Amino acid sequence: MQMNMEEVTMNNKFNIVDVLLLDHKYLKECIKVLKDDNEDRKIKLRIAKSFLDAVSKHSIAEKRSVYAPLIKVKDLRKNIIEGEIEHGIVDAKVKMLSAKLTGLRALGEELEIEMKVVAELLERHLKEEEEEMFPKMRKDLDKIILNEMGFQFMKLRSFSEKDLRYYPNLQKEVTELKKLGHKISGNFIARVQKHVTPAGHHAE
Ligand SMILES: [Fe+2]
Ligand SMILES: [Fe+2]
Repeated sequence: MQMNMEEVTMNNKFNIVDVLLLDHKYLKECIKVLKDDNEDRKIKLRIAKSFLDAVSKHSIAEKRSVYAPLIKVKDLRKNIIEGEIEHGIVDAKVKMLSAKLTGLRALGEELEIEMKVVAELLERHLKEEEEEMFPKMRKDLDKIILNEMGFQFMKLRSFSEKDLRYYPNLQKEVTELKKLGHKISGNFIARVQKHVTPAGHHAE
């Protein structure tokens, strides 16, 4: 069955805030392990690899499907600029650590601490998005846009069925989304911007 945009936007399954929160939930589970000084290093290494992969996918998808189209919304602009700066710091660390951890069979003390630092940086970023930006998005944006953004995020994020094992609603969509490819729709940003910046609606 082909996906139909009307259905995507009407059933609210793809609401971007809910989709981001579900991705954050996994990241926070990893952060908890990486911050725990008493956790076994073998487990930490396994979680660290999965965490780095998830952060880099989350980051790319979030920047393109959320930050880029919303940067002109007055109410969100400062949050997005701050978020972009934080992403810049975290993403660079993630890239560097991914390379260091590839093929590694044991996590040394220094890398263990470095992972903890990145986990804590990201924890702060997630908290700010969740406490400041997401409530504004729910308030400022209409349901159609929130769902279209979630749909674009899902295409870019390319979750596996296993990633979504606790979310049967979205798990069913994985195969269909795969067929659509991991690209954002060409006119998506313009369409969102048209919706969110009409005649001074968000101006003071
Ligand atoms: Fe973010
Ligand atoms: Fe996020």
